[in-house]
Amino acid sequence: MIAFEGLCKAFDGRPVLAGIDLQMRGGEITFVIGSSGTGKSVLMKHAVGLLFPDAGRVILDGEDTATFSEDRWREARRHYAMVFQHPNLFDSMTLRENVALPLRMHRRIARDRALAEAESFLHQVGMASKADLLPAQVGPSERKRVSIARALTLDPDWAILDEPTTGLDPVAARSIDRLATRLCREMGKSVVVVSHDLTSIFTIADRIIFLYKGRVRLDGAPDDFRRSEDPVVRQFITGAPDGPMET
Ligand SMILES: Nc1ncnc2c1ncn2[C@@H]1O[C@H](COP(=O)(O)OP(=O)(O)OP(=O)(O)O)[C@@H](O)[C@H]1O
Ligand SMILES: [Mg+2]
Repeated sequence: MIAFEGLCKAFDGRPVLAGIDLQMRGGEITFVIGSSGTGKSVLMKHAVGLLFPDAGRVILDGEDTATFSEDRWREARRHYAMVFQHPNLFDSMTLRENVALPLRMHRRIARDRALAEAESFLHQVGMASKADLLPAQVGPSERKRVSIARALTLDPDWAILDEPTTGLDPVAARSIDRLATRLCREMGKSVVVVSHDLTSIFTIADRIIFLYKGRVRLDGAPDDFRRSEDPVVRQFITGAPDGPMET
């Protein structure tokens, strides 16, 4: 479980998160949504110890992370794996070598075995047939898949995917949705997706957390979101240029 209690974070005196209270249960697909710049990525970086609260608490599986040492965070990051908004693959290494790297570095598996094992992770994301290509030889959605495979090498309980479909064409985006669904339903991962892709949200989300002005504005099932009469939520859904939403 990931819980945030009264989480506040400002940059250069400008508040971004202004008291976030929420709990993310395992075993489902939770979407964190909101306009650009509302702090979605900042929020989830707190769950993996890449940013630290100014005030409030981040609790992982019941443990207050304020007490975590750097070693304890390293351990936690194996259970809570985050795929970043702009994940970097090493462009001079094949996809297989990219995925083998964390197996060698974090799990201390010898090179030849790591290269062989990498293929099974590429298989899990539908990329085994392209294992020996370079990142530049595949498309953007395929690179996303490989970065997800790389995160899976740590065998995390949680997969936190930051904007996995942004910038992809609709067909590629839907195939990433299907992968996120498989991670949860077939592979038993708890999945958090940071997104503003309404199609993804209404297709695969079990639960939606809508952030607005540094706070949780709505926390519920897709139907609660769809039926909400909150004018800010309505404007987010319809994309109307005029309305109460401040961007
Ligand atoms: N390390 C940082 N230092 C200073 N400001 C930061 C830092 N990280 C984020 N910010 C600022 O915090 C705000 C929220 O950023 P964040 O990346 O979380 O937005 P977001 O909701 O993920 O947006 P997007 O949908 O565009 O990805 C932005 O104004 C951003 O410029
Ligand atoms: Mg972001």
